[in-house]
Amino acid sequence: MKVFITRLIPSIGIELLKKKGFEVSVYKKDNPISRKELLRQVRDCDALIPLLSDKIDKELLDQMKRCKVIANYAVGFNNIDVDYARSKGIIVTNTPDVLTDSTADLAMALVLACARRVTEAEKFIRDKKFVGWKPQLLLGMELRNKYFGILGAGRIGTEVAKRAHAFGCKILYYSNSTNKFLETKLNAKKLSLSSILKKSDILSIHLPLNTKTYHLLNEKNLILLKKSAILINSARGEIVDEKILISMLKHKKIFAAGLDVYEDEPNIKKELYNLNNIILLPHIGSATIEARNNMSLLAAKNVIVVLTGKRALTPV
Ligand code: DGY
Repeated sequence: MKVFITRLIPSIGIELLKKKGFEVSVYKKDNPISRKELLRQVRDCDALIPLLSDKIDKELLDQMKRCKVIANYAVGFNNIDVDYARSKGIIVTNTPDVLTDSTADLAMALVLACARRVTEAEKFIRDKKFVGWKPQLLLGMELRNKYFGILGAGRIGTEVAKRAHAFGCKILYYSNSTNKFLETKLNAKKLSLSSILKKSDILSIHLPLNTKTYHLLNEKNLILLKKSAILINSARGEIVDEKILISMLKHKKIFAAGLDVYEDEPNIKKELYNLNNIILLPHIGSATIEARNNMSLLAAKNVIVVLTGKRALTPV
């Protein structure tokens, strides 16, 4: 049986698939696979391992003649038309848990970097502007006693909350359901969207992208943030109306933003480059050796169990 992988992922998963007797075909070039090539490759594969940047829509799913499982190499699966895949009997899986800590660490890196103006300060040195210690040089914000709002209290949101709590922040969260761990262990308070926006000093997004969360942070909502607030997005770019965010940063209506994801990824709006109160990262939330190896392994294991007639380990 043939497994097609749309980009070179860590070898651990590929080796496992080969060891189990699967024929593995990998798109090895260092650029995203073209639509045309993807449409061609999926025709005769029994399993597909795509990236979050590969659009697995109706047209593509209709090309698949033998595919039984799509094992997304990501926890987010907004790139896949899951309902249509299901209607065709194709199982979709993702990679939860294995990237939770890495993504939470990265979100905290953005929080700290924004609060302490780390990239601005580093640029200051490289621009040779440092002429000595100064009482008012690059003043930032302390984390202790700040309200730390989490949008989406799932696995990653919960891990970010634990980290923020360890820094002395007061945890607020916005979620469809009550998170008992957050409430009992971290004394977190569940708030409505408008209340969390108004109260948070730091707001970190950990929601999945779907029709309900697309542009959830639109003008009406973003405007509720405090002038001193920091906004972090390491989930999906489309959750935030980027044009409004840019205008707010430009007019200093919030203190800073830290982005790991973008609305038109991989295209970055030109205005973002010109702001110095924003930190821009190239979607590296899960980019640790540990997480990426385990994502590779989990995607491979999902393929193996489904193609050998067992239940998927992490179906979406
Ligand atoms: C995911 O897995 O959805 C992440 O965005 C990858 O870093």
